[in-house]
Amino acid sequence: MREFAIDLARRAGALLAEYHQRAVAGHDFSTKSSPVDLLTAADVASDALITEAIHAAFPEHSIYSEESATGPLPAAEWLWVIDPLDGTSNFAHRVPFFGVNIALAHYGMPVLGVTYDPLSEQLFWAEQGHGAWLRQNGRERPIHVSTIAELSRSLLATGFPADRRTNPDNNLAEFNALERRSHGVRRQGSAALELAWVAAGFIEAFWHPRLKPWDAAAGWLLVQEAGGCVTEYDGRPWRLDSPTMVASNGQPGVHEAILETIAAARKAIF
Ligand code: IPD
Ligand code: CA
Ligand code: CA
Repeated sequence: MREFAIDLARRAGALLAEYHQRAVAGHDFSTKSSPVDLLTAADVASDALITEAIHAAFPEHSIYSEESATGPLPAAEWLWVIDPLDGTSNFAHRVPFFGVNIALAHYGMPVLGVTYDPLSEQLFWAEQGHGAWLRQNGRERPIHVSTIAELSRSLLATGFPADRRTNPDNNLAEFNALERRSHGVRRQGSAALELAWVAAGFIEAFWHPRLKPWDAAAGWLLVQEAGGCVTEYDGRPWRLDSPTMVASNGQPGVHEAILETIAAARKAIF
């Protein structure tokens, strides 16, 4: 299943890269839940490629993929949780930063996760109990979270929910506080790739409100298997349907400090 998922992520990534070459910036999209929740033809094509391949290979498995899912997260023994294009806003504007996210959950727990950046050709994968790995240029190496132990020396990443224009609970207070307590906060526009960066030790932590299971399932396993820690804002262990996420290198001076900063920022506002 691992090589199947890796091959599928690469095929979907190649399709996205092809669409990206042809795209005209800012013209080729419609909107979904809000004016900043974009949909392109590439999202739909990648969704079809991935879901058809899984149906053909594992007809008894269930699929929860962003562009074809209807309803809430299904309870299933084997569930593929897919984001066929993570970073659609980048993609629609021709920013070269987006990815494919494929996870397989067993009774609700991700056991396999693949995150692929088709432009850098960095492929991150993790399997429960087998560590987290980066394949690039025909080579593969294990990845580990960083060892930086203080928030003040950490580089972070985050993103903002699709209802940010109308909902005051939009992560700006948390961003304001954490930008000033860290080396800075990156906001690249792909939660999937930002989580893979935590696993690879490129950055120390990532936080985000109201992520969807397809944004976070593969990254949760990558960070766990790379030695990090993933919780909700209140410190409870993260689950597929959790409303909030903090993923870090697991150092208390980073993880706990982020939880405390988020709590203080939210208390001041809500
Ligand atoms: C989005 C990206 C973004 C995050 C948003 C997600 P999409 O996913 O991961 O970084 O901040 O909340 O919805 O729409 O590009 O698949
Ligand atoms: Ca996404
Ligand atoms: Ca998506």
